[in-house]
Amino acid sequence: MVTIKSWLQDQHINSKLKRFDLELLLLGLLKVERSWLFSHNDDSLTDTQLQQLSHWVKDAENGKPIAYILGYKTFWTLKLQVNQDTLIPRPETEQIIELALALPQSPKRILDLGTGTGAIALSLAKEFPTAEVLACDFSEAALRVAQTNAKNNLINNIQFISSDWFKGINTNHTFDLIVSNPPYIDPNDEHLSDLTFEPITALTAENKGLKDLETIISEAQNHLEFEGVLMLEHGYDQGMAVRTLLIEAGFKQVNTHQDLAGHDRITVAQKNT
Ligand SMILES: C[S@@+](CC[C@H](N)C(=O)[O-])C[C@H]1O[C@@H](n2cnc3c(N)ncnc32)[C@H](O)[C@@H]1O
Repeated sequence: MVTIKSWLQDQHINSKLKRFDLELLLLGLLKVERSWLFSHNDDSLTDTQLQQLSHWVKDAENGKPIAYILGYKTFWTLKLQVNQDTLIPRPETEQIIELALALPQSPKRILDLGTGTGAIALSLAKEFPTAEVLACDFSEAALRVAQTNAKNNLINNIQFISSDWFKGINTNHTFDLIVSNPPYIDPNDEHLSDLTFEPITALTAENKGLKDLETIISEAQNHLEFEGVLMLEHGYDQGMAVRTLLIEAGFKQVNTHQDLAGHDRITVAQKNT
């Protein structure tokens, strides 16, 4: 008989996966919370369950992200569907939600550019239930996933639009908060080879990863209310470049925030006029 505990012990020795990832696979298979797993250590696993786990362990050992194997990822307070049309939301992006919650005034109109699974937009829509949120992406496939996530999480104060950054957004449509985690990896970055499962259009941008950030910064002023706020995620080595772009574009209160690893990660700025 193979129990949850004995399977974990065996895989910990014989597979390449970390214990945390093995536990995630068990949670996904058994559709239970972590606390349940620990209080049911001695429950046995069926042959079908063991076969499924064995497939998943092989996929994960071959580099397939656990989120794609299970088809979901948790972000902030939400469980989000993910598939290979969407970037897997990263924990460091949650800092955008923290920064939005710390704003002196709750934003009423919010725009998320490049929404992917809807991670940022849906979290903000849930945290600010009276706000109107608009989420855009140029990937129709990603938008379908984001819409499913809105439905599954019962979030209604959000609309989705297919748009190449600001191109599909009316010129008179303004916001008091614009957020974006755009593609920012240099196409020549050696670390890209570790990310082969995720859509390349969600990851890379020309001009050393800065092209999409440049486009967003140059057009954001036209869509921000007076003293509206822009929050941008970027690469650990792009803080200075992003601050310079924002200052040159006329933004004030330009500040970069570090992630838990101490790297520059999110820059916040305010419209000047
Ligand atoms: C780094 S992913 C971020 C996804 C999500 N916001 C998150 O934080 O998990 C960048 C997203 O921008 C979208 N994107 C890339 N180029 C775009 C463009 N020109 N216009 C709109 N969206 C774009 C991609 O499809 C992708 O969903």
